[in-house]
Amino acid sequence: MNKIPASIFAAAALAIVVTAQAEDDRAKAVTMMKRDFHARSIAGMDRLNEDGLQALCNRSQNQPPKPIAERLQQDQLADIKYPADGKYLGDWKSGEKIAQNGRGMTWSDGGAGANGGSCYNCHQIGPNETSFGNIGNSLRQFGKTRGNSPQVQKYVYGKIFNAKAFNLCSNMPRFGQSGTLTEEQIKDLVALLLDPNSPVNK
Ligand code: HEC
Repeated sequence: MNKIPASIFAAAALAIVVTAQAEDDRAKAVTMMKRDFHARSIAGMDRLNEDGLQALCNRSQNQPPKPIAERLQQDQLADIKYPADGKYLGDWKSGEKIAQNGRGMTWSDGGAGANGGSCYNCHQIGPNETSFGNIGNSLRQFGKTRGNSPQVQKYVYGKIFNAKAFNLCSNMPRFGQSGTLTEEQIKDLVALLLDPNSPVNK
């Protein structure tokens, strides 16, 4: 029998130690969150639960095995509800307000009124807003560079509805799938990004 190099055992042992350490840190972090997050009104403890997709992304440093990622991404894609009237472009002026608005779904809102999209938290979008985050790419001149074809409109609608249908471990929230934004609101955001009259494309 061939001798197995000791380095293989060392690497395997190290992998087990690293994985165990990561799980230990995760357990500590979850305990801390559960200790410090207090359920109030509509904001229940269930908000700390991850779904299966998040569990997979969280435990693989956002790099799940490719065949599984592809399969799950297909499931997310198949779950997108596109507008029954086949129209994707709403009102860009309303879209700008939704992109600016970061309110909604907190215990103090009580769940009443429309939610915001907080898009500027992560994206540069219109020319008049100079305070924006950069976790997401700049969407400035998005329609001008990507075009405004029905395919692009459908893609942007779907991306806002469920970003993880196009990039499984995306950091972007699933606005339609989670019920945060309505069909009409998503159409308004598509218009903000793609309508040639929107300041985004000037
Ligand atoms: C927490 C951060 C975050 C928020 C909030 C967020 N996004 Fe994103 N978004 C991202 C990231 C990161 C990407 C790039 C990775 C990816 O494609 O998933 C992205 C990608 C996109 C894309 C695709 C860009 C391309 O080049 O194809 C669009 C369109 C988009 N976001 C629109 C929006 C809109 C509209 C909102 C508000 C309703 C929003 N995003 C809110 C993080 C965010």
